[in-house]
Amino acid sequence: MDTPICDFARRYAASDVLRLHMPGHKGMGPLGPEPLDLTEIPGADDLYDPQGIIARSEENAGQLFGGITVYSTEGSSLSIRAMLYLAMLYARSQGRKPRIIAGRNAHKAFLSAAALLDLEVQWLWPSSQSSYLSCPVTAEDLEAALAGEPPAAVYITSPDYLGHITPIAPLAEVCHRHNVLLLVDNAHGAYLRFLDPCRHPLALGADLCCDSAHKTLGVLTGGGYLHIAPQAPAFFRRRAKEAMTLFGSTSPSYLILQSLDAANAALTGSYPRRLQEMARETVALRRRLEAHGFTCTGQEPLKLTLCPKSYGYTGTELAAALQRRGHIVCEFSDPDFVVLMVSPETGREGLARLESTLLSLPRWTPITTQSPAFRPPRQRMSIRQAAFSLSRTVPTAQSIGHILADAAVGCPPAVPIVACGEEIDADAAAAFAYYGITRCTVVDESL
Ligand SMILES: Cc1ncc(COP(=O)(O)O)c(C=O)c1O
Repeated sequence: MDTPICDFARRYAASDVLRLHMPGHKGMGPLGPEPLDLTEIPGADDLYDPQGIIARSEENAGQLFGGITVYSTEGSSLSIRAMLYLAMLYARSQGRKPRIIAGRNAHKAFLSAAALLDLEVQWLWPSSQSSYLSCPVTAEDLEAALAGEPPAAVYITSPDYLGHITPIAPLAEVCHRHNVLLLVDNAHGAYLRFLDPCRHPLALGADLCCDSAHKTLGVLTGGGYLHIAPQAPAFFRRRAKEAMTLFGSTSPSYLILQSLDAANAALTGSYPRRLQEMARETVALRRRLEAHGFTCTGQEPLKLTLCPKSYGYTGTELAAALQRRGHIVCEFSDPDFVVLMVSPETGREGLARLESTLLSLPRWTPITTQSPAFRPPRQRMSIRQAAFSLSRTVPTAQSIGHILADAAVGCPPAVPIVACGEEIDADAAAAFAYYGITRCTVVDESL
């Protein structure tokens, strides 16, 4: 697959032009990539109105992912805002209210978008046994939620931070039967497209989805996609760029664009084979760790999520031990979990190092403390009202009874324990304490 953005940037860097345009480094600097860091000069195209090299590169990506693909240089956060804006506009064109039914484990980018767009959110709650980070949604749950007035869209986060994958096809079937759009936050799952069989939401019936290319593919941080399925109404194709422009920076990074462009070539090369091998190796490692006594959760082939309390460690302690003993830095840890993300670049050697470090750890008496139970908090204001109200910061220990004004206060991967506009109750305050959250911003009701 060709790489028109990379080719252009390389030619430009090798030429003897005098750069009397932005950026100020003029192609020189201490980091190394400055010669390739461009702006919208003639021939470089325009991300928000592409007609040339960016349009060709996005077409390549669209072919790879099986729909219309537009690039984001601001991660999934930008694509989520654009996706919700499009869903809201489309709903209005259909005479529907801007109401979204969403799995509660939505990332805070969803909440800030809901505040900006004044969306009404009807949450799908996880069962009380689940972690805040997961929200398994079944076709039956969705069928029940869709029984009333149809929403603008259903919004699902899959895979979640712990590596659980929601079966998208049955949810898409329910949504489409009710004539409702299915939007998927697939920030963690760009690579699912290249598994055999393919497990990417677009292939399983989602109408729109976002991927953080940078999270799992060999792409620089910030690189992402907004995908539109072939079956989605033509409205979405026509308005996608407008939606990205509304929220995106007018200075998209050309280094990130080159990285997305280069990924197209890599993804049509040896990547799928190497991915498949790494997925097999990781699944085999998970089985060996389980046989040794570790508890794992999640089904994502490139994530190893350990629940180490049964092995005598909190997640935070295990992450520290991995760093101390094996110089291994994990993606995420909290009192209950350690999330380790691998990719084909990790290689067998990387997995072997992880395994030997884990197996070298002494096993202790299981820790029996449970993560706090939670009940859905009471909504006192709309998300937008609370986000735009005058507010003050308080210690979370003194926050009971107040209305949260932050987009969300959540466990470290930005999943809400309490969402904007909800009242902080004793359960929520206990959860803040458990996750080490000491301050939050609440609506100042004295003003
Ligand atoms: C589930 C989920 N959605 C969206 C995002 C935002 O993605 P990005 O950082 O690419 O903007 C994240 C980031 O961690 C995430 O975990």
